[in-house]
Amino acid sequence: MKVLVIGGGGREHAICWRLSLSPSVSKVYATPGNPGCATIAQLVQAGSYTPSGYLALARSLAADLTVVGPEAPLVDGVVDAFETAGLRIFGPTRAAAQLEGSKIFSKQFMTRHGIPTARFTATDDPAAARQALDEFTYPLVIKADGLAAGKGVVIVRDKAEAVATLDSMFGGTLVGDAGLRVVIEEFLTGEEVSFIALSDGESVLPFEPSQDHKTIFEGDTGPNTGGMGAYSDSRILPPAMRQTVIDTVMTPTVQGMKAEWMPFKGFLYAGLMMTKDGPKTLEFNVRLGDPETQALLHRLDGDFGELLMEAAAGRLNPSLLGCKPGPSVCVVLAAAGYPGKVRSGDLISGIPEAESTGAVVFHAGTR
Ligand code: AMP
Ligand code: GLY
Repeated sequence: MKVLVIGGGGREHAICWRLSLSPSVSKVYATPGNPGCATIAQLVQAGSYTPSGYLALARSLAADLTVVGPEAPLVDGVVDAFETAGLRIFGPTRAAAQLEGSKIFSKQFMTRHGIPTARFTATDDPAAARQALDEFTYPLVIKADGLAAGKGVVIVRDKAEAVATLDSMFGGTLVGDAGLRVVIEEFLTGEEVSFIALSDGESVLPFEPSQDHKTIFEGDTGPNTGGMGAYSDSRILPPAMRQTVIDTVMTPTVQGMKAEWMPFKGFLYAGLMMTKDGPKTLEFNVRLGDPETQALLHRLDGDFGELLMEAAAGRLNPSLLGCKPGPSVCVVLAAAGYPGKVRSGDLISGIPEAESTGAVVFHAGTR
């Protein structure tokens, strides 16, 4: 089959790479892709990077399956456009993508279905938000409701910082319209785990657990980045705890979405805090993680293309999700200055030497 991949970061390079190794896949297209994708996939331009633009592209390529990397096209309704047109795509509809697209939706959904999460207040009223601060102790967490490209979560240490953060959220200066509604929530402590599963709308098929690491520099001296790396290791969660996550978070989420008439098909990513009271959900994403995917797909052992095609058709097949037993790690090598203003144009060398050791090099932001 011919598969179209939407997106152009390191995660999408890893998806293209795994698809290119799938016996069921004869051709991989990526839109817009990146120079790394171009070594294994054909880069194609969409007339517009909108649901109808992607649909027209998939039609013109006669793609048998489309796989969506980032959240924005999902929240924009790319899956709805494909399903209406009868084209196969793996991902949640616009309604189901609210689990990531609206933090208020996801928090209220968790409340409705008894899914463990931090205590919270949600509001679009600045005065009510200020008042709600008194219901929490510091530090506390303020979250923009809408998509904010990783900038919508602020941990504040005292009331002055909280008030300033609320002002910049409601003033639209921090993350634009995404911050006009906010969640204020209790600060949780523990180890964070990225728990990612495939869902066909009925049940879940989990990947091994992984963890991403956001602070830059040796010793985590910061600041936060889009991710300096990730690792996947089955020992991150003992088997009983893994089952607890499936039983208290993943399965109730998929069942709850089905009961609310928005079945969730696609990659369901729960960002968990393993607290002393058990796992609590910090957030849902409706896609694979970046850079968790790079580590996860390196361990995958099986036909990724067939796995996704079957899942898109409503058939989760555990025998297609083989996983190599050993752990894997993804280390991000960033341009000088990252995550601030980066120096661009530096030459990257040593890729063949790295790959001769069994490593795989994924591109993001290269040319
Ligand atoms: P994001 O992935 O941008 O939504 O940011 C989520 C990150 O903020 C998580 O990975 C946590 O590190 C942190 N975070 C979010 N909610 C909480 C919370 N309630 N308590 C502690 N840390 C949190
Ligand atoms: N690695 C975090 C994310 O993909 O949201």
